[in-house]
Amino acid sequence: MCGIVGAVGFVSPKDYVFNGLKMLDYRGYDSAGVAYFNNGIQIFKDVGSVEHLLSIVPETIDTNIMIGHTRWATHGAPTKLNTHPHLSFHEKICLVHNGVIENFKELRGFLTGKGYRFYGETDTEIIANLLEYYYLEKGEIIEAIKTIMTLVKGSYAFAFFTSEDKNTLYVIKKASPLVIGLGEGFNLIASDASPMIEHTNKFIELDDLEFGIVTKDKVAIYNKKGEQIKKDTISKDVELISHDLKGYPHYMIKEIEEIPQTVRRLMAKYYQDDKYQFDPNLIKDLEESDHIIFIACGTSYHAGLVGGRYFEKYDKSTSRFIASEWAFHPTYPGKKPFIIMISQSGETADLIHCLKIIKEHNLKNLIITNTGGSTLDRNAMYSLLLYSGIEVSVASTKAYVAQVTLLAMLAAALSNDTKLIDDLTDSLDVIYDIQDHYKPLIMKVADEIKDKKNLFYLGRSFDYFLSLEASLKLKEISYIHSEAIPGGELKHGPIALIEKGIPVIVFITDPDTAASMRGNIEEVKSRGAKVYTIATKSLSKPEDTIMVEDYAYYLSSVAVSSIAFYLAYYVALAKGLNVDKPRNLAKSVTVE
Ligand code: G6P
Repeated sequence: MCGIVGAVGFVSPKDYVFNGLKMLDYRGYDSAGVAYFNNGIQIFKDVGSVEHLLSIVPETIDTNIMIGHTRWATHGAPTKLNTHPHLSFHEKICLVHNGVIENFKELRGFLTGKGYRFYGETDTEIIANLLEYYYLEKGEIIEAIKTIMTLVKGSYAFAFFTSEDKNTLYVIKKASPLVIGLGEGFNLIASDASPMIEHTNKFIELDDLEFGIVTKDKVAIYNKKGEQIKKDTISKDVELISHDLKGYPHYMIKEIEEIPQTVRRLMAKYYQDDKYQFDPNLIKDLEESDHIIFIACGTSYHAGLVGGRYFEKYDKSTSRFIASEWAFHPTYPGKKPFIIMISQSGETADLIHCLKIIKEHNLKNLIITNTGGSTLDRNAMYSLLLYSGIEVSVASTKAYVAQVTLLAMLAAALSNDTKLIDDLTDSLDVIYDIQDHYKPLIMKVADEIKDKKNLFYLGRSFDYFLSLEASLKLKEISYIHSEAIPGGELKHGPIALIEKGIPVIVFITDPDTAASMRGNIEEVKSRGAKVYTIATKSLSKPEDTIMVEDYAYYLSSVAVSSIAFYLAYYVALAKGLNVDKPRNLAKSVTVE
């Protein structure tokens, strides 16, 4: 996934584009570049951060038009040459791209045959040249756009300008997001509305296979046949798309602390007048299904593990799969299976692959996502939004809690179980208590474990699912090797790794499994492990590390996940790592 920004007619395009790139670098951050028009096309790009890019561009840039890009490498390593924007061979087209071109090798072969030469390895450079080829052949940019839309396979949001017109930005979209922001005497573009909200709250969202011609006073949208079409303008909820750090040093901690309001917002959206508020057709389809399959990746998969249990509580049989596994061996037991996909970004390629299979088999399906307008939101049969507000930090926190909360509410809606709402409300008190009282203690633990190479999380049942997420979070941002083990499984292998001083972090919040977990603690302690126990008060022992107020045990992932998130955060901080942008990861992985 990559981020695109652009402006035409804006009074200070440099400020807009650079601020925008910083906001969009959650979409990828291995290299960044900008292009503008000033005595011809000027391009500045390099490997590294947007801050670095800012240090290599001129202090003052006099231009009417600018495009920028922040990249997460797919085709071609993160090198300067592969960084966007890309300039075509005859220097007529300057283009940025978000997406993946599937047939770029074939298109490159075609262009090579026409005498074109390439300086990098990206699929994007091929498109800049393809556009140029047809622009030169047809003498008309609209004709060139129409032609390439019939030729290019894959996903794309393109933004470009030509060397012959410094007043016009062109955008083309298929399966990657592209939003146009309408201003007075200027117009803006970006991959999402957040960079533009400071300047306008009037947007046009391009649909697939549409393109736009954007000048400072006019925006014209066309379908793939080149016919101009009318599009509605929309506005956005400023609170939900704001990138304001609100005084926090990092997005991750801001997002952890937004968890209570995220849960509250979900309760307000999907539970009103003492009733759950879900599409009756969705509820009917879920009721009629005889098996529910949860499919997701990473953190969202962990939310699916918890969610599956919730549906089993209401007598639904379920199975849960990692998307990339299911895609290569799709199974759908039962006569009427129903698929629930979960994705914070709504753009994860592994899950999009699954949706293709799901549709081929005409299976009923739902996506739970935080990103309205994303590929999965647009293409699934049903969609439920998480309304968590934008999640910038790569490590997902508030969206995970929102996923679990929404799954709990959806499952409870099947039998109108309203006790859940009381339980969720009680769990908010636990979260506030953690925020108010336990951070110093968590920091102390972070300090003790920060130099360790390996550690373990232990739990059973809901506490095991939470352990999986706690472990992933620590791994993602602190680079400590960590594994989550179900307490009962310890003796079947992992116990061989327990040695003197190894940290073992244990969750004990479930009365049914507490006694067995205490047994596990003795097993690892006797082999020299340094145990940190997080327990609810009624299940706690004086030697435990953190004791939180009791809550409905099945809500571990809502009530006490904050402890795991803070711990990962403070360890990464203590190690001096880039908390919000861990190495090698991207907020959304749009390649399989
Ligand atoms: C990436 C991120 C993970 C995330 C996963 C699924 O791998 O690094 O943190 O959980 O994608 O993302 P999704 O947007 O589908 O929830």
